[in-house]
Amino acid sequence: MTKKALNRSLHAAKATKQDEYYTQLSDIEKELRHYTKHFTNKTVLCNCDDPKVSNFFHYFSHNFEKLKLKKLITTCYKNCDADLFSKHTAEKGIYLEYNGDKDDNRVPDPDEIGIHKLNGDGDFRSEECVKLLQRADIVVTNPPFSLFREYVEQLVRYKKKFIIIGNKNAPWRQKPVKSLVSD
Ligand SMILES: C[S@@+](CC[C@H](N)C(=O)[O-])C[C@H]1O[C@@H](n2cnc3c(N)ncnc32)[C@H](O)[C@@H]1O
Repeated sequence: MTKKALNRSLHAAKATKQDEYYTQLSDIEKELRHYTKHFTNKTVLCNCDDPKVSNFFHYFSHNFEKLKLKKLITTCYKNCDADLFSKHTAEKGIYLEYNGDKDDNRVPDPDEIGIHKLNGDGDFRSEECVKLLQRADIVVTNPPFSLFREYVEQLVRYKKKFIIIGNKNAPWRQKPVKSLVSD
């Protein structure tokens, strides 16, 4: 994907509701194909990702074997009801752990995905989510734009590698290791 096209896509997100923009699978595939070798035997965390709607979760769970991942952890903010899309009506969040395909059908079946309740709402800054962050090797997501600075500061504080989508005007004083930027 060209930078221009990605910028257009991100501008569209701005025009709607920034914090609730969901990244398209095609955009994720086009970008992450450049980093496949970095995922071998790594635990990937998507910590702003409702697994029912997040294409980051979709991408990593469906490419788990191809990428030779060790583990995929995904946290879901303020939603613990499997039948709801991210409505943020719940006080609690959940997290998912996926360790790969067990029955050789190359699809992450529901019974292969461990679903765990969080004590809190799944805020990436909460103690329990920070514990999950500490278990991760690489963090990959599109975080809420309104919390971008805090989000990146936390990743740097915990010395995590990351690939995140952001806006180049986001208030951040250091260049992230890798971020997809928009004008
Ligand atoms: C820009 S959307 C991107 C969603 C998903 N990562 C994707 O790329 O499709 C940001 C997501 O962060 C979630 N979120 C908002 N505040 C959060 C917080 N404090 N902690 C964790 N997630 C949060 C929102 O519910 C939303 O799903």
